[in-house]
Amino acid sequence: MRNSIIAQYLFSLSLLILLLSECGGALDTVYANQVFKDGETIVSSGSTFELGFFSTRMSKNRYLGIWYKKISLCTVVWLANRDTPITHNSGMFKLSSDGNLEILSGSNTMVWSSESTVSRGSNSSVLRLLDSGNLVVSEMDNYKNIIWQSFDHPGDTLLPGMKIRKDLITGIGPTMEWNSWKSPDDPSTGVYTNILDTNGYPQILGLRGQVVISRLGPWNGLGYSGLPIDKENPIYNAEFVVNEREIYCSYELKSSVVQRIILTSDGRTRMMHWIERSQEWIVYGDLKVDNCDRFGLCGPYGSCSINKRPPCTCLPGFEPTSPEEWDVSDWSGGCKRKTPLTCGDVNADRFRKITGVKVPDTRRAWYNVSMTLEECEMACRMKCNCTAYANLDISSGGSGCLIWFDELMDIREYDADDHIYIRIAASDLAGQQIDPNKKKRVVTSVLSFSSAALLLCAGAYAYRKRKNTLQVKDQGDFEYALDKKNTSVQTQLLGDIPFICLYKVIKATNNFSVSNKIGEGGFGSVYKGVLEDGQEVAVKRLSGTSQQGIEEFRNELISISKLQHRNLVKLLGYCIHGNEMILIYEYMVNKCLDSIIFDETRSSMLDWPQRFGIIHGIARGILYLHQDSRVQIIHRDLKAGNILLDDDMNPKISDFGLARKFVGHDSIGKTKKVVGTYGYISPEYAVHGRFSIKSDVFSFGVLVLEIVSGKKNKEFSHVDHSDNLLGHAWRLYKQGRSIELINTSLHASCVVHEVIRSIHVALLCVQHHAKDRPTMFSVLLMLVSESDLPPPKQPAFFTEEESTSKLESDSSLDEYTITLLYPRS
Ligand SMILES: *[C@@H]1O[C@H](CO)[C@@H](O)[C@H](O)[C@H]1NC(C)=O
Repeated sequence: MRNSIIAQYLFSLSLLILLLSECGGALDTVYANQVFKDGETIVSSGSTFELGFFSTRMSKNRYLGIWYKKISLCTVVWLANRDTPITHNSGMFKLSSDGNLEILSGSNTMVWSSESTVSRGSNSSVLRLLDSGNLVVSEMDNYKNIIWQSFDHPGDTLLPGMKIRKDLITGIGPTMEWNSWKSPDDPSTGVYTNILDTNGYPQILGLRGQVVISRLGPWNGLGYSGLPIDKENPIYNAEFVVNEREIYCSYELKSSVVQRIILTSDGRTRMMHWIERSQEWIVYGDLKVDNCDRFGLCGPYGSCSINKRPPCTCLPGFEPTSPEEWDVSDWSGGCKRKTPLTCGDVNADRFRKITGVKVPDTRRAWYNVSMTLEECEMACRMKCNCTAYANLDISSGGSGCLIWFDELMDIREYDADDHIYIRIAASDLAGQQIDPNKKKRVVTSVLSFSSAALLLCAGAYAYRKRKNTLQVKDQGDFEYALDKKNTSVQTQLLGDIPFICLYKVIKATNNFSVSNKIGEGGFGSVYKGVLEDGQEVAVKRLSGTSQQGIEEFRNELISISKLQHRNLVKLLGYCIHGNEMILIYEYMVNKCLDSIIFDETRSSMLDWPQRFGIIHGIARGILYLHQDSRVQIIHRDLKAGNILLDDDMNPKISDFGLARKFVGHDSIGKTKKVVGTYGYISPEYAVHGRFSIKSDVFSFGVLVLEIVSGKKNKEFSHVDHSDNLLGHAWRLYKQGRSIELINTSLHASCVVHEVIRSIHVALLCVQHHAKDRPTMFSVLLMLVSESDLPPPKQPAFFTEEESTSKLESDSSLDEYTITLLYPRS
């Protein structure tokens, strides 16, 4: 289990890590007939990229490729002869006199050529490797006249500035698609392809072989229909252009991160960032699709909602084509009209508006950018087989016209303004109400994948096979764990989380014996246990359960089962039996952070490098919750007691009992009941009950100061003043004495600039106004970079009295909700 998770998560990281034997070279401009032998390389002008021959780990095949020069893991971003490797080390490459890049084997046979199609006047062409990673053949006296460029021929990687493009004038579309590798060690063309499909209205499709398996909705002026819109993304701009001359999508970086998008050999499209400090690629965004993103799951006129059980419903005015199949969870037959349309009598048909949908497949749609919505409706009425229409562009009030004919395929619900008008018989419109829940909500527990907004040209994904111990029926990715004992908790959609039956749990924990107990809290008790296969686990048994408790437990379980990150504690299984509700987690040898850092003797267990690593890990875990997981999660109770440590002292965030889920950019919530832990909660939350990702940032700041100082914020005292830990840290910072905050046990191991930087970042996190606090993404960048940091403003809850009085007057601290694992302290 554990292995499969690690494999899944780190898969694409390791995919492109290739061991290259030689890294060295010079030169960025090559003239015709200069020959380069295997081993010689060309370096781009700013030394970012390098071109030369390489092999993958498992094979002796030699490929001409481009990789990052400055990055320790040689990561290939482009290759020339992916399907025609050279089998020995005697390959050569050169720019021919007619302007083609050619690869020759030792016996001088040509194995690959760029086969430029653009005609050129003279033989005076040059080959240059640009710092963007683009390998360009152009005319020597006019670099603007490009004869051929590698950006027009992507492999499995998209780099910033690359365009996936179709030229409508020449009809040449060299970069309409990009393909995965066959396997992590075999760069030859794999089975997955992402393609810019220009039939109907352009959209990006993911294919496995010839079969469409996923679809990125058409561009709606703000973003891709179906993905949450991320208008203020600080990292990059995505672009999608359709005009008379060309169709393309591309993205440009706005910051200095090193970024690439890859289509992995198992079909996932991922945005990766290079982290210099830890020397690794992290997954910044992943089209880690939920089941609704499987193309056409609900068939024609079906609509998918990851929140519903079953996920497929028919559009209004439609009913299942085959109720029998529908009942056994085969939705692919889709839906049919309750009442046929009466074409000819235009008034017999009506249009029903549906809001918050990823619009249907546009491969057979028709569009006009200048038509109004009224004209669009008229145009639809005029055609008997027109089934729906919509605005093409939903920005600035809506404009343009998009019209669908015949079947409407691949519709899903998501939280945005996209809407379509579907044509149904007037009789089916009567009596139907617009579902009030369809309106935009601030807090929703929908699907979604906030950082998917980042993926600009994204699409395909692998069909993931899942295992479930109690499987009623295997419907592709949809699986149902059924607890026959308790009919109120049935048919759950629990992803990979196995159901473990009660007698096994009893066996594992020695019938919940007292000697196995490792924690106790309001929610129940935590026991150490050993499963049949020898795995050590922490078993959390929830007590006092009502029907409502079961519902909450179920919701909790569903959201947690979808979270997977190495810095989050891993749920291994669950058990529901009568009133027993039990969660089974991986067991953490080193318990929680607060049992170490606040303990005089144990605190020496963690030296500075380990603590810096822990700060990092926590930041990553929170970033994942905020940004990379499919649902945006605000933890709301980050504290040292909720950070568990594994054998290698890697931090794992636990206890999502208070977590709230959000979608897209509406990530501000309000609650009457302030829960959380005193000492860690932000002022706007404590006082006004307003929480957002920035309240987690606040708690993170407190946590960092505690990790550095070894002192608890809420119990801090000092002989000279009555400030709390935040106030004390601020005082020292103002006097340029930040380093004095450090715990005495760290004196020997500390790296001064890292300590100072951590404190500085922490102070930025605990600033009074939420808007002044950085996002977790910036926090992570600030921790790893060397650049100057902005000066922090005075922290919130500067003094002890201030925080105590506000908390007491404005909130109640009762902590009702189901909490996970270790108790709150
Ligand atoms: C689009 O609609 C406008 C306004 O109705 C019309 O003038 C124009 O010819 C249409 N363009 C196309 C390509 O059909």
